Amino acid sequence: MINSTKMKILIVGSGAREHTLAWAVAKSPDVEKIYVAPGNGGIRNLGSIAECVPISAINIDALLAFAKEKHIDLTIVGPEQPLEHGIANRFHEEKLNIIAPTQQAAQLETSKAFAKQFMQWHKIPTAGFQTFQSHQRAKAFIEQQTVFPIVIKASGLASGKGVVIAEDKVSALKTLEAFFEEKIFGAAANEVVIEEFMQGEEASVFVITDGVNYVVLPTAQDHKRIGDGDTGKNTGGMGAYSPAPIVTPDVMEKVKTRIIEPTLRGMAAEGNLYQGFLYVGLMIENGDPKVVEFNARLGDPETEVVIPLLKKPLLPILQACAAGALGSIEVNFSSKSAAAVVMASKGYPDGYETGKVITGECHFDDGKCALDVSGEVYVFHAGTKFENGKLYTAGGRVLAVTAVSDTLELAIKDAYEAVSQIHFDGAYYRTDIGAKGLKQRAR
Ligand code: AMP
Ligand code: GLY
Repeated sequence: MINSTKMKILIVGSGAREHTLAWAVAKSPDVEKIYVAPGNGGIRNLGSIAECVPISAINIDALLAFAKEKHIDLTIVGPEQPLEHGIANRFHEEKLNIIAPTQQAAQLETSKAFAKQFMQWHKIPTAGFQTFQSHQRAKAFIEQQTVFPIVIKASGLASGKGVVIAEDKVSALKTLEAFFEEKIFGAAANEVVIEEFMQGEEASVFVITDGVNYVVLPTAQDHKRIGDGDTGKNTGGMGAYSPAPIVTPDVMEKVKTRIIEPTLRGMAAEGNLYQGFLYVGLMIENGDPKVVEFNARLGDPETEVVIPLLKKPLLPILQACAAGALGSIEVNFSSKSAAAVVMASKGYPDGYETGKVITGECHFDDGKCALDVSGEVYVFHAGTKFENGKLYTAGGRVLAVTAVSDTLELAIKDAYEAVSQIHFDGAYYRTDIGAKGLKQRAR
């Protein structure tokens, strides 16, 4: 049971997603303390209620010991690596409340081969596929193909980089060589999924579930490529907006009945009750959604646009999730739009320098800022650290600047206005975040 007295919360992770979660949880009057392990330079902006703890997100022993020592009431996990390390299983064994799927349930993300076989078995719409553990067999399969592009994926976790869209036979064979022989993704590519290329427009739907009941959060669209116009290398995500107009009420109904509900029922039936956040990456063509991928967590930077649109505090929703009582909770979202622009270090997603001083307005945690903007602005930190009274860059993605306003146009304008006031050596950001959403709506 969760205590009725003031709560102590532990958030695991160090990105802008975790800063956003800490910011949202801090709004609840029932919270006494929020620890973020390991957190970042933005956590201090939340005041004395929040504190960084120098424990890595994958050091499960240390996280567990910390949660016991501090009598943590609820732990919220941001990234995927602790899920693969079984953080939820370990916390459950100690009867500690945690918002995260078990290691087995998280296979929906940590093993693409598992996810595809699961979808096939439960008739959940997705691209046709084959899985391979042998280079020779995969090669023979590619040799027979006549339709390109074809999509080749490392089955295991590869920081979002293990997917190659091969335009022809030669590049498909090269990719197999890189996966199986050069081992560019190590053991993550010991098994490889080859699937058909899906046409359409992508969007993400986020669900929080206690395994039986679920709540759908606002939809979002990420911008995965480093360059404007979706060019260049894949990144963790360079910006997002919410809601995604491509997910009409009709599409959402199909997503619920054809994807979310069979997924939760199927996982439960297989003895892998799925609890926590579920991220459904979709390809939508002619109003029909198919699954591109599942993630067993919230997206980053999608969290930075989805969570600020919640009308009620996040914590009671998470408490209901942990208590298996999501069916009795009402969740309301703002009818506004949100846009988030990621500011990254020069060179990202390849090698980049850190330790650059960040100047400008880097925290408006109450959403109010002195700039000429129409709505609210929030600066969520990712790779930052605060030292000797100064804020420094400390990662590839440095800040996510979010604006919430009446329309997507205004939210985009406000986010870029805020970005223009923040400076660090080599700061890079895309200039077209949200443009896809405006185009969609104009159709
Ligand atoms: P994933 O990590 O599986 O989400 O793949 C990364 C990106 O590759 C997706 O966001 C899509 O843009 C693209 N992608 C993955 N699978 C497919 C597919 N079967 N057809 C078309 N694009 C895909
Ligand atoms: N923004 C994509 C992800 O979190 O995986």
